[in-house]
Amino acid sequence: METWDAIRARRNVRAYEDRAIAPDHLDRILEAGWRSPSASNRQHWDFVLVTEPSQLQELSTVWTGAGHLAKAKAAIVLVLPEPEDGRYRTIDQYDLGQATMAMMLAAADLGIGSGHAAIGDQEACRRILRTPTDHICAYMLAFGYPADRPLKPIAKPNRRPIAEVVHRGRW
Ligand SMILES: Cc1cc2nc3c(=O)[nH]c(=O)nc-3n(C[C@H](O)[C@H](O)[C@H](O)COP(=O)(O)O)c2cc1C
Repeated sequence: METWDAIRARRNVRAYEDRAIAPDHLDRILEAGWRSPSASNRQHWDFVLVTEPSQLQELSTVWTGAGHLAKAKAAIVLVLPEPEDGRYRTIDQYDLGQATMAMMLAAADLGIGSGHAAIGDQEACRRILRTPTDHICAYMLAFGYPADRPLKPIAKPNRRPIAEVVHRGRW
């Protein structure tokens, strides 16, 4: 898919076909995250790939808005070390956002749908993934071939009017 088409086609996909994702496609999605820029090239992130259905089912319970993970074919959990200083908290979140979008666009390029999920129950996530206690399970991305929302460029996305969002030269 052309980059511009992938940008316009990406949307949250939360229902998936019962079709496995090839391991090399998952590797490419992970590599997209790995290649992402981060402030001072800190790379304060770890990505935990989960493909085991029982683990995906468990992860679907760590947040009320994470139900779609139960039927996903894979998930990537974005894990952050506790920031050494409070001022890095925003920076690290910004960096994770960049890695997230890179992975979602790489997936869209391959025709693979993706869906965000936040994490409420840190203890449960740590137990499921065995992450260290000085790390935070920040967000999850679910992946699978779309069952209900085809990845085609969206002509009219559900967004605030562009003229209201974009300011040129001054507010
Ligand atoms: C930081 C962040 C957290 C999100 N958390 C969830 C979530 O927990 N569950 C969910 O279903 N969607 C979640 N979303 C998806 C948003 O609801 C979605 O991106 C937004 O409604 C725009 O829709 P689109 O991605 O289809 O364009 C999250 C998105 C972001 C950026």
